[in-house]
Amino acid sequence: RRLAVLVSGRGSNLQTILDAIAAGTLDAKIVGVFSDKPDCIALTRAPQHLRWSRAAKTYADRRTFDSELRDAVAASQPDWVVCAGYMRILGSNFVQRFADRLINIHPSLLPKYPGLHTHRRALEAGDSEHGASVHWVIPELDAGTVIAQARIPVLPGDDAQSLAARLLPAEHELLVSVLRDAVAGQLALPGPV
Ligand code: GRF
Repeated sequence: RRLAVLVSGRGSNLQTILDAIAAGTLDAKIVGVFSDKPDCIALTRAPQHLRWSRAAKTYADRRTFDSELRDAVAASQPDWVVCAGYMRILGSNFVQRFADRLINIHPSLLPKYPGLHTHRRALEAGDSEHGASVHWVIPELDAGTVIAQARIPVLPGDDAQSLAARLLPAEHELLVSVLRDAVAGQLALPGPV
């Protein structure tokens, strides 16, 4: 199965996918890595897979950036498009183009805490547990149908850093397990977008 992966930062989720493929525990191949941050660390993890990376700020408008990204992703002919630490909102014409194969991993128990600073918000709310969600991507931010979640306890003395650090391995495990179902054709498709 052909995976296109969108990244913006550290790329630990991309690395997890690379490792699972290398270990033979994920029957897929990466057909392209795409980013809105040409100098992000994620791109150094698999330079051979880099297909498109443009600094969004060099674009006059979002639509042009989105349509170039869409065309670059489409050219890789992906079976699945995975947002793995991708930090930019995807426009509706991108989402419509890949609606039945576009997923994202988000570090919260959606529908709680869409958007940024999820660990801090969980702590401020006094939540006793936190987690990550893999969900279908729709134009509204972090609002698509949830596919699967991983839960971790919030421990006394946790701060945003310790909570994020405890969540990250759970995110990685969740993402690979969802991708295994996806490549095996076992993901129930999202409802109408
Ligand atoms: C992760 O918490 C992921 O859930 C969120 O961005 C963070 C960094 O991801 N979307 P990565 O290390 O860049 O894959």
